[in-house]
Amino acid sequence: MVYIPFLSLLGFQAALNPFAPKPKQEPISTDAVPFVNPNLHGGSLLDMTNTGLGEPLNVIVSGLSSPWVLADGGFVHFANAVGFGIECFGAHLGDPQAANLGDGHGYVNQTLELRQDYGNPDIGTCWESLVGGNHLRLFRQNGPGANTGALFLAVSQEENVSHGHTISPNGYNIGRDNFVKGALGVKRYQGVKYQIVAQNVTGLLPPGSTGINHGIPTDGVTVLLTVTIVS
Ligand SMILES: *[C@@H]1O[C@H](CO)[C@@H](O)[C@H](O)[C@H]1NC(C)=O
Ligand SMILES: *[C@@H]1O[C@H](CO)[C@@H](O)[C@H](O)[C@H]1NC(C)=O
Ligand SMILES: *[C@@H]1O[C@H](CO)[C@@H](O)[C@H](O)[C@H]1NC(C)=O
Repeated sequence: MVYIPFLSLLGFQAALNPFAPKPKQEPISTDAVPFVNPNLHGGSLLDMTNTGLGEPLNVIVSGLSSPWVLADGGFVHFANAVGFGIECFGAHLGDPQAANLGDGHGYVNQTLELRQDYGNPDIGTCWESLVGGNHLRLFRQNGPGANTGALFLAVSQEENVSHGHTISPNGYNIGRDNFVKGALGVKRYQGVKYQIVAQNVTGLLPPGSTGINHGIPTDGVTVLLTVTIVS
């Protein structure tokens, strides 16, 4: 048997490189369920900002999605396919937020923050930083208590820079709905074809504004997306 160490390294790089043309299916160990309700194990569908209030985790990418999509690099590739990109030149605006997904890890900072790219994955997010638009923070449910690999996203519509990137009125529902609208169906990007289906889940977060940052109410709907690489 020949052990070729750099092959696994290449696989790792492919998973991290958003421009990898053909994603390799990275096997991630998961529980083979869409997600586990964070409320059952001390978690919450609200993340935590430095004000003590939170933003709703209003989209979940199912743990039953293609494994590659659930890795950081694969998710960024998928996000590029649906109009989101890495923040402008890696510039990061604002503090990270943390979430407790009830997976035994307690509160963990966001893994990624992406912005609407206005049609240009390389520099479009710079435009978003000026004029506002949609943006998302990503948290992964992968602790020992719930190793589903599901990605919990806090999606919100932001005002422009002169408003200091505050969330638009109704910005949580609008951000979620625009993200889902832009992601549904079949999307192609750099040789990869994604199929995305959505399902509404209620009962994870009560409707209203209790505990929610800026007092902006939500309708309490969480959208579960299953993202499958079909070719
Ligand atoms: C999140 O990141 C901030 C800034 O880097 C750090 O101060 C804080 O301790 C982190 N929180 C958690 C829960 O890891
Ligand atoms: C930001 O929005 C306000 C209105 O809400 C508008 O007056 C202003 O011109 C906008 N600024 C930019 C940079 O788009
Ligand atoms: C899911 O919920 C959103 C927000 O309430 C709603 O606009 C949409 O029609 C719902 N979709 C389905 C399939 O029920």
